[in-house]
Amino acid sequence: MAGTIGLTSAWTWRSLETPVPLVDLDRLEDNIARMAHHVEARGLALRPHVKTHKTPWIAEAQLAAGAQGLTCATVFEAEVMASVTNEILLAHPPVHAEKLRRLFALPDHLSLIIGVDSPDAVGMLQKAAEQWPRPVKVVAEADVGLKRVGLRNPTDVLQLAQAIGRAPSLEFAGIMFYPGHLKGATSDQSEGMLRLNQDLHQMCETLRRAGFPPAVISGGSTPTAPRFGELADLTEVRPGTYVYNDRTTVSTGACDLRQCALTVSATVVSTSVQGQAVVDAGSKALGREPHEGLAGYGEVLDHPEVVVTRMSEEHGILDLSSVTWRPRVGDLVRIIPNHVCIVVHLNDVIYGMRGEVVERGWEVAARGRGYCP
Ligand SMILES: Cc1ncc(COP(=O)(O)O)c(C=O)c1O
Repeated sequence: MAGTIGLTSAWTWRSLETPVPLVDLDRLEDNIARMAHHVEARGLALRPHVKTHKTPWIAEAQLAAGAQGLTCATVFEAEVMASVTNEILLAHPPVHAEKLRRLFALPDHLSLIIGVDSPDAVGMLQKAAEQWPRPVKVVAEADVGLKRVGLRNPTDVLQLAQAIGRAPSLEFAGIMFYPGHLKGATSDQSEGMLRLNQDLHQMCETLRRAGFPPAVISGGSTPTAPRFGELADLTEVRPGTYVYNDRTTVSTGACDLRQCALTVSATVVSTSVQGQAVVDAGSKALGREPHEGLAGYGEVLDHPEVVVTRMSEEHGILDLSSVTWRPRVGDLVRIIPNHVCIVVHLNDVIYGMRGEVVERGWEVAARGRGYCP
C-alpha cells in the first residue's frame, strides 16, 4: 500500500530507533469508533479534521466508521485525501493564486466546500471558478469567540452569504465556526456553550429570515465534543485531535490518559546532572507547545509526575526532582506530548503497534505543503 513502510514481524516498539512516534492501534481504533458513535447518536454528521494524522489510511478508517467526508486545512491535505474521499471541506480561506489553482485542479470526483470570511475571498473564488469551472459550495465562517477568523456579527455573516449568493459560479451552503476559545475543562463549558448556542441560533435565524437558509452548520472541536448535543442548530462536527488525543485533551476532560494513542518513544542518554534525566527527544521530536495550566512540554507515560521541563532541538530534560524513580542511561521512556498534531507534523514516519509488536509503519503523507512550482 502506498505510504506503508515494510516491516518484518520481529519488530517490537523497543527495537525501533528513537525518538520515534508510536501509535497504539487498539486505542486509535477505539477513539475512531467512540467518536463516530457519539456523533451519530446525536443525529450529526461527522467530518473529521485530518490535520491531526495527515494519513490516508486513518482517514479511510474514519470514513468506514461513518464519517461523511473530511476536513482539511491545507490544499496539500486535500490533494492527498482525494484518494480516499469524495467530499472535503477546506477550513482555511484559500487566499493565494497558487492555492486557488491547486484547489481547482483537485480531482473532479471531489465535492468541495470552502470556508471564507471576506467578500475579497469570495471574489477570488469566483474568478477561479470562472477560470477552472467546477461546482463549488461555500460556507461563511463565523467567529464565535476565538477571534481568529470569521465574522462575529449576524448581519455581517448575512452580507457575506449574500455576496456568495451573488457570485454566479458559487453556491452558498451554510456556515462554519470553530469554538477554539472553549479549551478549558468540558465541565466548565456550560456558560460558553449556552452563549455559543444562542449566537449560532441568532446567525442561523438571520440567514433564514433573509432567504439564505444554512443547509450546513459545521463546527466543533475535540474539547467540545462531549457537549455537541447542546448546540441546537448544528448539522455536522469536525473534531480532529480525538484520533490520537494528547495531554491537552486529557486536561479538558474530553478523554483520559488511556485514550492517548500516540506517544513518542525516547532513550535516556544522560543522567549526569542530579535530579534530571536527558532523553533524545527535544523540540524537533515533541514540538515546543506550551499549554496554559500544564507544566512542561510532555509527560512520561506511567510516570505522569515527570514532565519534559526544558528542551533543546535534540535533547529533552526530564525533571525528576519530585519522584524517586531514577531511569538509567539506555532506558526507554514514552512521552505523551502536549499537542499531538505538531508531533505528527514533525515526523516523516509513524509506527503502529499492538501490545509490544509493531504491526505497521506509515509515512505522514500529507505532511508539509507539497508545493513544487
Ligand atoms: C477550523 C478547525 N476545525 C476543526 C478543528 C479540530 O479541532 P480539534 O483538533 O480540537 O478536534 C480545528 C483545529 O484546529 C480547526 O482549526
